[in-house]
Amino acid sequence: MDSTRLVVVSNRLPAALRKNENGDWKVVPGAGGLVTAMAPVLRDRGGTWIGWSGTAGGAEVMDLLASFSKEAGYELKPVGLTAEEVNDFYFGFANEVVWPLFHDFQSRCNFNPRYYHRYMDVNRKFAETVGQWSAEGDFVWVHDYHLMHVGWWLKELGINRRTGFYLHIPFPPVDIFLKMPWRTKVLKALMEYDLVGFQTYRDRRNFIQCLKLFYSDVKAKGRGPVVRISNDERTFNAGYFSIGIDYRQFNETARRPSVKKRAQAIKEADENRTIILGVDRLDYTKGVPQRLEAMRTLFENYPELHGKITFTQVLVPSREQVPEYMALKEEIERLVGEINGQFSQPGYTPVQYMYRSLPREELVAYYRAADMALVTPLRDGMNLVAKEYCACNVSKKGVLFLSEFAGAATQLQNGALLVNPYDVEGVAKAIHQAYHMDDKEKRQRMRKMQEIIRKYDIFWWVDSFLQAGVSRGLGDFPPQESVDYAFFEMGEDYIDDSLSSGT
Ligand code: ADP
Ligand code: G6P
Repeated sequence: MDSTRLVVVSNRLPAALRKNENGDWKVVPGAGGLVTAMAPVLRDRGGTWIGWSGTAGGAEVMDLLASFSKEAGYELKPVGLTAEEVNDFYFGFANEVVWPLFHDFQSRCNFNPRYYHRYMDVNRKFAETVGQWSAEGDFVWVHDYHLMHVGWWLKELGINRRTGFYLHIPFPPVDIFLKMPWRTKVLKALMEYDLVGFQTYRDRRNFIQCLKLFYSDVKAKGRGPVVRISNDERTFNAGYFSIGIDYRQFNETARRPSVKKRAQAIKEADENRTIILGVDRLDYTKGVPQRLEAMRTLFENYPELHGKITFTQVLVPSREQVPEYMALKEEIERLVGEINGQFSQPGYTPVQYMYRSLPREELVAYYRAADMALVTPLRDGMNLVAKEYCACNVSKKGVLFLSEFAGAATQLQNGALLVNPYDVEGVAKAIHQAYHMDDKEKRQRMRKMQEIIRKYDIFWWVDSFLQAGVSRGLGDFPPQESVDYAFFEMGEDYIDDSLSSGT
């Protein structure tokens, strides 16, 4: 790969600005997978990360980020957003229109035209900032659904850059996408990137089907994960690259003596019962109420498991200003109370619940301690929790229940127990089956998943996107042999109905 300078653009910067006790701003570095993967690439190639600073901007913010940049080895450039912009662009268009629609929750959408206009304004602001801090020849990599129009704006403003866009969330099927009042504008905007990346084959297929509906002359050529799309007006590439995690880092953390000790303490506090774990941002896409109903069904249908299994749900507060999210919190807390009311015994609380973000080591200790993980989103672009759980499973005897509707199911279908999250009896049946599964089968399944997660980690993901976007440019495909895409071709017919309630 050449040494093209990289400009990463995402809604959030990899460092957040927070006020300390004295009311002064301080910079808190981010620790997510994307930051871990991008930071060394940006440092080595030279680069800039552009994103919302979490504030309205100002000289103070620039100074703070400048000193952070010096240490990080790459530049951080903030986009300041006013309170109205945060409200209409971030809470409004991004999280009340695109997020629910793209996750197939059309009835939760609020198609307020003001949101769309503000989204356009803010995307323009991001594009102007890209123009200010990049040069021709740089590769601009835009992330996620908040910024679908940045590539389009760059062209409108006459800022000539090579561009790539990666959608971290699903791309919906045609009949759902059609509901979007600004559907052609969104498609047109995405077509302005040189490379558009998705999580899975299915997302890319949905996108191409939408294009074909609106542009009868659109043709997709090529085989494999990256195809060339063209019509009379435009030619660009579209591919799928499933995002991974920093497997080694999670695995090494899980093996630390301090984490081992903490995991043992968690087990002992639970009197060595079988621990089932759920870890999610508080979001209606994660299927937490359905998961709790599945636990209730488990205790109702399999009374012999009373006292033997506990379910721990960790929820991270998220998007608290969107009304749907607060209503969901209340619903979850009511369900936790009800189930505990129904099944608790002296010394035994079947459902444990935490509503907070956990420090990394503590989270890893929970992953390590858990005998099973219930990852049952109703829809998810990928789901990193599923991968993190496997990476931390030192004993290799952990069981992963994974929703058929998570992008991760395309990769982990041979090791996980795939479930339909709406089928609460089916999920309960799967848990019952796993409770009696022998260790040999558990290990075989976990090994398969760990191999895939280790191989297709976050560094693989960055490399394959950049290979497609930077090195190959347009017209230079099929993909290089060095990237092994084979497993992505397993197709989409992985549904196994033996665990559903009807069989
Ligand atoms: P999403 O991106 O929709 O939130 P993912 O599962 O892909 O879902 O990613 C969630 C990320 O948030 C994971 O990296 C996970 O480690 C982190 N996370 C989830 N719950 C917690 C928690 N309680 N404390 C700290 N981090 C968490
Ligand atoms: C998902 C989205 C990300 C987003 C994250 C946290 O993973 O794909 O783009 O950053 O959720 O949500 P938040 O609204 O807090 O940024």
